[in-house]
Amino acid sequence: MKNQKNRETDFAKGLEGIVSNTTRIGYVDGEAGKLSYRGYDIEDLAEHSSYEETVYLLLNGKLPTLSELEEFTDKLKGNRTVADEVMNRITHLPCPCHPMSMLRSGISLLECIDDTCRIAEDLEEKKEAGIKLIAQTATLTAAVARHLQEKEPVPPDPALPHGANFLYMLRGERAKPLEERVMDLSLILHADHGMNASTFASMVVASTLSDLHSAVSSGIATLKGPLHGGANERVIRMLTGISSIAEAEAFVEKVLAEKTKIMGFGHRVYKTYEPRAKILQGYAKKLTELTGNEELFEIAQTIEKRVTEAYGSKGIFPNVDFYSGLIYHSLGIDESIFTPIFAVSRIAGWVARILEYLEDNRLFRPRAVYTGPTDLPYVPVRERG
Ligand code: ACO
Repeated sequence: MKNQKNRETDFAKGLEGIVSNTTRIGYVDGEAGKLSYRGYDIEDLAEHSSYEETVYLLLNGKLPTLSELEEFTDKLKGNRTVADEVMNRITHLPCPCHPMSMLRSGISLLECIDDTCRIAEDLEEKKEAGIKLIAQTATLTAAVARHLQEKEPVPPDPALPHGANFLYMLRGERAKPLEERVMDLSLILHADHGMNASTFASMVVASTLSDLHSAVSSGIATLKGPLHGGANERVIRMLTGISSIAEAEAFVEKVLAEKTKIMGFGHRVYKTYEPRAKILQGYAKKLTELTGNEELFEIAQTIEKRVTEAYGSKGIFPNVDFYSGLIYHSLGIDESIFTPIFAVSRIAGWVARILEYLEDNRLFRPRAVYTGPTDLPYVPVRERG
């Protein structure tokens, strides 16, 4: 049903365009293709910041001093360990099971065993619980990824920053500097993005005064869907299913003729080339050169060129998932872990927005326009035809 506007039954399907709150955390300008966190342009943060500093900024509303950053980084490092009880359970879940389901289950299990997080009452306690959860989500995700390869988890290395340590826990060995830089960058770029579906879902749960772990689990559940975080998996399946530029050209003509949706293109808010995709595109080129995946980059470029020629006038351009999939693939990461990596980053935005919303909480409770029948006579079951 299309969105309708009239006096009795005003509604916006999917709450599209509805403003539900104010925020000082981040701003997405879909027309101009701009994204900022706490007033800082994403291009500046991508160039100069780190994931740790970006998380501090999102949670605290200002860039840290050097000592504040060191203290915050140490806190994240000190909270990386996940109890064996949880590790053992998530690695014994009945498989096959999507890694996002394993991660979601891991977060729920953490809530069951971690009293300090569960009983966090005031906003400062909740912030501490959130920092712990941000650190542990990376550890859980790496353990899930290794379990799927039938490998033991790798304990975190306290000498490494967040992104580099995450790659280390995935691989069991230190990555190259460009690879570490790209992982850090990708975590920065995915950390927050307005009232997207997973952020909204986690805020709805938090607004009931449920606990932070439950709110984050609902964010993970929402991010799993292919219209949201799950698109980058499909992008890389599409790209790796094409073996040459000529095949890419034929593929793109076919999907354009069939008018099917192309994964990694289009966005509910951006109607121009989005900044995250632009930044990742440059790094995807460098990384594919380093890892010998240049042809895949060329295939992506071929598809991008033709799709934007055809659909650019409708505001359809590559989104962040188009290049994040290519980047993670070039880092040797299995496609099933792409969306969990999104969660490793986006948990910062979820926690920041939940804390902000709880400062002046109001239970989310939209309504629906009833369009079904009314006044039906009840017929007992044995008398129904
Ligand atoms: N390929 C081809 N056509 C598209 C695409 C696409 N990827 N996306 C939108 N369109 C077209 C639709 O067919 C529709 O055309 P019509 O008006 O002729 O019927 C028009 O654009 C509007 O499409 P909607 O789906 O209504 O647009 P919406 O604003 O809801 O789109 C969405 C947002 C869901 C992301 C959509 O672009 C899509 O499904 N993209 C593919 C999945 C994807 O890449 N998701 C990742 C999003 S980014 C993120 O979550 C991090």
